[in-house]
Amino acid sequence: VKVTYISTTGEKTTVEGKAGDSVMQTAVDHGIDGIVGECGGSMACATCHVFVDEAFLAATGEKSDSEEAMLEGAASDVRPNSRLSCQIRLSDALDGLVVQVAEEQM
Ligand code: FES
Repeated sequence: VKVTYISTTGEKTTVEGKAGDSVMQTAVDHGIDGIVGECGGSMACATCHVFVDEAFLAATGEKSDSEEAMLEGAASDVRPNSRLSCQIRLSDALDGLVVQVAEEQM
């Protein structure tokens, strides 16, 4: 499953992720700048905030209420396509996924 991360400076990095892994875990495994995953994916930090490319918004599914609340509470620059990348699991349906890494979080 290919995932492309776009950095805050516009640099693109495409990596090969495993189905079932989260977008956050995949980024950490490949040393993607700006995705820290401080809380290990338990929706408690927002250091994994990304913007999902419009073309993949539907495929990534709906945000849970707790994800929404975390984004609103902790992330800066929240947009309609904001997601916590630890809550997005890779699958074949998401092959080619493009996410933009959000600016540094508090
Ligand atoms: Fe902490 Fe996603 S890794 S909220």
